[in-house]
Amino acid sequence: MTVRHVLEIDDLRAEELDEVLRRAAEPPGGDRPLAGRTVGLYFEKPSLRTRHSSEVAVVQLGGHPVTFRREEVGSGEREPVADIARVLSGYHAVLGARVFDHRLLEELAAAATVPVVNLLSDRGHPCQALADLLTMRQHLGELEGATVAWVGDFNNVARSLALGATMMGMKVRLACPPGYGPTDEDLDRLAALGAPPVVTTRPTEAVAGAAAVHTDVWASMGQEDEAEERARAFEGFQVDDRVMDAAAPGAVFMHCLPAHRGEEVTASVVDGPRSVVIAQAHNRLHSMRGLLSWLVEEAQR
Ligand code: CP
Ligand code: NVA
Repeated sequence: MTVRHVLEIDDLRAEELDEVLRRAAEPPGGDRPLAGRTVGLYFEKPSLRTRHSSEVAVVQLGGHPVTFRREEVGSGEREPVADIARVLSGYHAVLGARVFDHRLLEELAAAATVPVVNLLSDRGHPCQALADLLTMRQHLGELEGATVAWVGDFNNVARSLALGATMMGMKVRLACPPGYGPTDEDLDRLAALGAPPVVTTRPTEAVAGAAAVHTDVWASMGQEDEAEERARAFEGFQVDDRVMDAAAPGAVFMHCLPAHRGEEVTASVVDGPRSVVIAQAHNRLHSMRGLLSWLVEEAQR
């Protein structure tokens, strides 16, 4: 039997993604598929939402989370990543990992005999995309045919969101500075899943007709050295009231958080009436519960 890993959101088929979102919309307190079991959560980078939402989701499903940092295990130094994966597969029902280099996730997944979930890598953030889709479903209603815009860096969060939104039949519009947009490989991957995205360098053009406008920091974790250069490249890409006014009437503002007020978004937008960022953060819990419940059931098939 093949183990199902979720290193990117398109590791799920569209109908599986829909099922995860359906489970995410169910209130907690139902089945406890993790009763008497544990989930290992590995972190190489800081986290507020991902750590807490994952731990609480495990508890809500009847299990116990075991969170640990890279320096505690010395992956690749104290022992090989494959040994860590094989050993932890004997303890835990699922492994989650937040890593600098996506290839470490691939190494873990290649050796693990339980599902491995990407809790953010340099390439993707599929758990965030699940929460983003759930939040948009709650605010926009039907996702199919709705327009979602991304303004800023086509980073880990943007990539997973674009993939997930395309899988759900959404129209994706991306406004990125030259050199910070999707690669040809990204565009091919998106085109294989649904309608290809509209890509522009003009934020107001991308958000026209959009029911949800997303952004994220200009320099992600691990890119601190590029912060100044990026701040220059992203001039004109701040989501302010003018950009939000160019979106569809009633459009919501979304951000995975943490947000840098005055950089990628103004305080008036992120703290204003169009912002759903706190509901979006809370949905990290519900979507994680949905994903884990589906993965655990899938592993028992
Ligand atoms: N959005 C998100 O992943 O937040 P954390 O980095 O705090 O986990
Ligand atoms: N793009 C950001 C997301 C943080 C949740 C980062 O990788 O730092």
